[in-house]
Amino acid sequence: VKNRQVILRNAVPGRPRPEDFALAETTAPEPADGEVLVQTLYLSLDPYMGSAIKGRHMSGAVAPGEVMPGETIGRVVRSRHAAYREGDLVASRNGWQEYAVASAPDPLQHGLAAAVARVATPLAADPRVPLTAYLGALGSPGLTAYAGLLTCIDPKPGENVVTSAATGAVGSTLGQIARNMGARAVGLAGSAAKCAHAVQHLGFAACVNYKEPGWTERLAAACPGGVHGYSDNSGGAVLEGVVGCLAMGGRIMLIGLMDQYNTSERLPGPGLGPFIGKRARITGFVVYDHRHRLAEWRRIGAQWIAEGRLRFHEERIPDLAAAPAAFARLMAGETMGKLIVAVGGE
Ligand SMILES: NC(=O)c1ccc[n+]([C@@H]2O[C@H](COP(=O)([O-])OP(=O)(O)OC[C@H]3O[C@@H](n4cnc5c(N)ncnc54)[C@H](OP(=O)(O)O)[C@@H]3O)[C@@H](O)[C@H]2O)c1
Repeated sequence: VKNRQVILRNAVPGRPRPEDFALAETTAPEPADGEVLVQTLYLSLDPYMGSAIKGRHMSGAVAPGEVMPGETIGRVVRSRHAAYREGDLVASRNGWQEYAVASAPDPLQHGLAAAVARVATPLAADPRVPLTAYLGALGSPGLTAYAGLLTCIDPKPGENVVTSAATGAVGSTLGQIARNMGARAVGLAGSAAKCAHAVQHLGFAACVNYKEPGWTERLAAACPGGVHGYSDNSGGAVLEGVVGCLAMGGRIMLIGLMDQYNTSERLPGPGLGPFIGKRARITGFVVYDHRHRLAEWRRIGAQWIAEGRLRFHEERIPDLAAAPAAFARLMAGETMGKLIVAVGGE
């Protein structure tokens, strides 16, 4: 069986471009004893891959010539493991390719090691929910939103909870969870269209375009009493602007550095004065530490999706060959919602 792959062609000093990647073709690997061969149905495109191709992500570095990594939903097409049958639906980390072999998850493996392992985790998908949601709202981005919000922000009814990248996979889920818990969700996003989507479709109380002058005044106006919780995806000037709007006792969760993923240099951080004045708490968050809460979040999230209380927007990329161009748009901030590559389709 032929196995189409996307490999990293060269080092990427700045923003990734489609020509930094190349299509390759090999034959699908043979599963060894205790392994299964998984055909990719759907591949998730995520910002951390931009950091991984610069050798700066904790999940591991990608070197030129290597297949791009990535979370996938797939089907077992050959099984040499007693616990799997052909046709079983699994979550795996096939990367940007049509086929990969995997073994069964090791129950003694946790955190980062479990997250990056080449394993096939059986997926009991809720029939009320589209399968692709298991890469977005009910996948790692959704778990980031759920576990991060509960652990680092712990929102109270009526509090203002702000997220940057409000229409992205993490931000859109986090805002809706905060709202469903009785808080006021306020978004920051990079265009008028994204802000309209956050308010009209995702049910945010307000959304401010941080690329327009005067955005910090508009954020302060949208958050009477100040910002009680903030989930930061970018660092830099956006973080600095939100810090200036903190409420007393504000909690900040740092989850991503979109500002830095596209450059080889480290950018200067914000001044920390307001953290002191506002007795604020700031917490770093890594989703790999919270994998034990995935089943709990999927139960709640699937129910909310079925009830229409959790919505998500997907952009479906029709073919693996189109993944590099879509990824370049993701890292340029030109996409909205969750990017899913339909590799094998259904
Ligand atoms: N800590 C963890 O465990 C963990 C886990 C998952 C994800 N994350 C992080 O969460 C963040 C959001 O991830 P996601 O999967 O939901 O994807 P995403 O929100 O779709 O990420 C892309 C978006 O980031 C925003 N952005 C902000 N500053 C940017 C810049 N300088 N250049 C380009 N885009 C910029 C853009 O939205 P706007 O136009 O609205 O600004 C862009 O559309 C990422 O930083 C990711 O690394 C962290």
